[in-house]
Amino acid sequence: MTDKLYIPVLLGTTREGRYSEHVARMITAHAKDRDYLGLELFDVRDFNFPLDDEGQAIKDKNTKWRDAIVKADGLIIVSPEYNHGYPGSLKMALDTLLKEYIHKPVALCGVSAGGFGGCRVIEQLVGVVRELGLAVTFRDLNVSHVQKMFSEDGVLQDESVLKRVDEMLDELEWMSKALKWGRDNLK
Ligand SMILES: Cc1cc2nc3c(=O)[nH]c(=O)nc-3n(C[C@H](O)[C@H](O)[C@H](O)COP(=O)(O)O)c2cc1C
Repeated sequence: MTDKLYIPVLLGTTREGRYSEHVARMITAHAKDRDYLGLELFDVRDFNFPLDDEGQAIKDKNTKWRDAIVKADGLIIVSPEYNHGYPGSLKMALDTLLKEYIHKPVALCGVSAGGFGGCRVIEQLVGVVRELGLAVTFRDLNVSHVQKMFSEDGVLQDESVLKRVDEMLDELEWMSKALKWGRDNLK
């Protein structure tokens, strides 16, 4: 077995009682048996954002995230849909870096209480991640009616979602291998 591709999973909300945490944990746990992917969960709650600064100026205040993205082969973003957009805390976390993301793939996961599975927040994130130099995979993960999919304490109620998690991971794995080859071999 070769070294695993390293994929941070960014949980993009600080909300108390957030269901997106259950989704991020489910994806990370489900990928454990994969030969080629090693996932690690990052939580925007741990970023300890200052109230008087933003952007790359604060990247050295969160060295764990900075170093993770420097060595990352790809990224998964798990975002709830808040008023058809993404939480400010997720944007603040993403904005702390720039060149570290370039030519790495990102898979997007939208989480919603409603029936559209966060498809509107995913569309908004596509423009953001493109500007960061990330390459979006074409298999998103949409989690709709999330309060039915998980119990309050995070137990998965509907295992049919795991097939879609696998589809997202398969595509991310392919893109991670292809872009790693490109980063290592092309100027
Ligand atoms: C400020 C706010 C705005 C929201 N807007 C939407 C929305 O536009 N569409 C939707 O389906 N659900 C919306 N929701 C419900 C969330 O999708 C729901 O809380 C879901 O569980 C995912 O978010 P969570 O990780 O915070 O739990 C909103 C929730 C909050 C707190």
